[in-house]
Amino acid sequence: MTTAVEMISILLLSGLRQIAGDSYDFGDAGLLEKIKKERHKYPMSKYWSDIINRLQPYEAGEQPQNQRYLKLNTNENPYPPSENVIKEIKEASSELLRLYPDPDANELREAIAEYYGLEKDNVFVGNGSDEVLALSFITLFKSRRPVVFPDITYSFYPSYCALFDIESICPPLTGEFEIDIDQIPLKSGGIIFPNPNAITGRYMDLGKIERILEENQESVVIIDEAYIDFGGESCVSLLPRYPNLLIVQTLSKSRSLAGLRVGFAMGDRQLIDGLNIVKNSFNSYPLDRIAIKGATEAIRDKAYFEKCCDLIINAREWTAKALELLSFYVVPSKANFLFIKHDSCDGKSLYEDLKMRGILVRHFNKPGIMNFLRVSIGTLDDMNKFVNVVKEIIQDKYGKLK
Ligand SMILES: Cc1ncc(COP(=O)(O)O)c(C=O)c1O
Repeated sequence: MTTAVEMISILLLSGLRQIAGDSYDFGDAGLLEKIKKERHKYPMSKYWSDIINRLQPYEAGEQPQNQRYLKLNTNENPYPPSENVIKEIKEASSELLRLYPDPDANELREAIAEYYGLEKDNVFVGNGSDEVLALSFITLFKSRRPVVFPDITYSFYPSYCALFDIESICPPLTGEFEIDIDQIPLKSGGIIFPNPNAITGRYMDLGKIERILEENQESVVIIDEAYIDFGGESCVSLLPRYPNLLIVQTLSKSRSLAGLRVGFAMGDRQLIDGLNIVKNSFNSYPLDRIAIKGATEAIRDKAYFEKCCDLIINAREWTAKALELLSFYVVPSKANFLFIKHDSCDGKSLYEDLKMRGILVRHFNKPGIMNFLRVSIGTLDDMNKFVNVVKEIIQDKYGKLK
């Protein structure tokens, strides 16, 4: 299925191609060489618009299609969806699939609104929160002013900016990986960051978020709460006072449904209406019948969701302590992952050593965080195995370095 975002990109880019006169010549040999070198996965083509030839796409974490690995690399939930969700999904796999789904996913929006004490019109749903975020960039951030996000954050944000031709400013995080509010320019085309932040797990309290909203009332502030259920407090309570606040959440993490692709946004009616205009200009049916049913039940099954979150939070705290005992620096996290570093180990080699021993974690080849690994939290058994393997690696390989 072509998602709304793909459709928008195609249309936006075909427009840009006309403006650019279909040229493949950047007039910058250095840049051309750099792109060719870095983009070995996708060679360039004279048939693509300039913007596509230049684009560095987001790189998703490895998704091996076999069960050989203990997967601690893409922040999935180690627990299955609730039995009630599976039952709904099975029932939705019926002859009714010949009919289009509800374009407005009313049942799901009602369930989310009820859960958070909002009206259905304050809720927008999409094909994963990545789609919701991309639509939000086009709807709310495409202005003459640059959008602001921290220099270390969810790496899809720069990709959306490049794709939709939006400028950005990226204030640096502090040495402790915190967002420094004083570094956020007062006049911008909008602000976005995850809370807790990806890829660090650092959480910002509601008081600070309120200050950002207060100081930036002329632009939209998007709080990406992909990981909020693992110990943070959602800023939903701020919605009635701040019409410039949009909250984006996903069912991929805390509700064990990464494979179903469902995300949502909550905000003032003006923001939600804008998102609907864009969505309905490209793809009226981003969620299929199965996704609507499964996601609705996942929102309703509060007891199961809370049980899984508690187990993951406990496993995270246990893992953080165990890693600190092995002399790791562990960034304080309220997410379902830990961002960690060991002074005696190079991040990339540790990632490779773990992979050789059947454990996948995430390493980011970016300045400032090269020596860090991001480790998703699995079950307590998974984390026990992870810590034991790390211990072995450090003793075997790096023990002699100390
Ligand atoms: C901060 C953040 N936002 C959004 C997403 C996207 O989630 P999904 O598209 O699976 O809903 C992710 C996924 O890793 C994320 O880390």
